[in-house]
Amino acid sequence: MEVIEKAPKRPVVNPPLSTQLQRRLAREFTPRWNQQWGGKFILHGRPVTEAAVRLDGNDYLGISGHPEIVQAQVNALREDRESVIQSGVFLLDAHPSHRLEQSLAEWVGKEDGYLCQSGYAANVGLLQIIADAQTPVYLDTLAHASLWEGAHAARAPAHAFRHNDVQHLERMIAAHGPGVVVVDSVYSTTGALCPLHEIVQACERLECMIVVDESHSLGTHGPAGAGLCAALGLTDRVHFITASLAKAFAGRAGFFTAPASMRYYTLISSYPNIFSSSLLPHEVAGLAATLGVIRASDDARRRLHANTARVRGSLSGLGYPIHQGSEQIIALEAGTEPAAMMLRDELEAHDVVGALFCAPATSRNRAMVRLTLNASLTEAEIQHVEAVAQVLAPRLQPWNWPIARRQRSRTTQP
Ligand SMILES: Cc1ncc(COP(=O)(O)O)c(C=O)c1O
Repeated sequence: MEVIEKAPKRPVVNPPLSTQLQRRLAREFTPRWNQQWGGKFILHGRPVTEAAVRLDGNDYLGISGHPEIVQAQVNALREDRESVIQSGVFLLDAHPSHRLEQSLAEWVGKEDGYLCQSGYAANVGLLQIIADAQTPVYLDTLAHASLWEGAHAARAPAHAFRHNDVQHLERMIAAHGPGVVVVDSVYSTTGALCPLHEIVQACERLECMIVVDESHSLGTHGPAGAGLCAALGLTDRVHFITASLAKAFAGRAGFFTAPASMRYYTLISSYPNIFSSSLLPHEVAGLAATLGVIRASDDARRRLHANTARVRGSLSGLGYPIHQGSEQIIALEAGTEPAAMMLRDELEAHDVVGALFCAPATSRNRAMVRLTLNASLTEAEIQHVEAVAQVLAPRLQPWNWPIARRQRSRTTQP
């Protein structure tokens, strides 16, 4: 038998980093690592135990592993002989991807749509083709980072308007001219609802187009889960709808709608569609099955909304300042990064797992632990979360968090 000698492990040698990059690390990262985080990566808590109640995922309807979805994926993996790994722009109109795009578009009440590799790619790809250097883009300060990236990709002037402040938006449009207004239907860090009626009216009055990112309402809100625009009867007055399919769809893709007249313009202009490969056949088959499951999930939607009302009520009653939002995402905004780490560690020590969010996902000193609720939570799990929140409240004193103090001073001002 031939003896294969193991080569001695060679130490890895890295060429020196440029002075500029070293300075940047020293300026932007090292002080945070050493002083704020105590030499530990802020986003990583302890390993999750079996007993833990997980409130750190976005599978709002609890459909991961649904047998119909798994079966559709398995069938596609077994049956697919033809697929070619290539960009979506080459796929002919009869391809299953396009059939899924049309089913998704029809479901949300639009003419046509595009699958992308992620919600991030969908937002970048859409903004990039509907704005340009002469088109101001107005974004809510809490709009998702990918929408800002889309405005940058379009080289468009990006203007932030104060969160959910329609009058401020109107003043900005008056100053810079008509353009594209960009909002999330449900804000991803706070669970706040967008005042869509008022925003749409402002856009119509001031001749702007509007993009609504429905990542956190698609599947969870509206008739058969068709989203917030559908729920409010606004679909026909909104120009473009985008969504991550990695939330209620529990998949790994994104989607945006556009009028049918834009189909081939989009396919020859939108970079994520052109310069990045399309979804795999089993992903498309899984998402098509997921759409069927989601449409039929009224009971899960009801449970999700009931869980939201229940947990929000309990936490508010205990003095947690969660007034920023109303939906299934709950921000426990401790403030500083060390305070958010402490909160996350306390929750985890009591088997409640949330996700720590800090800059760049929030503004500096507005770090939080984000809890996301889902339809599958059991009564025992909800009671556990409530009991832990009660035990921790005297120690954490959430009523003294900066956000609570700011709210008090706002409501007590004459
Ligand atoms: C509002 C919003 N839009 C877009 C995205 C990006 O989605 P994805 O994770 O599919 O890239 C997210 C996810 O973080 C989101 O919360």
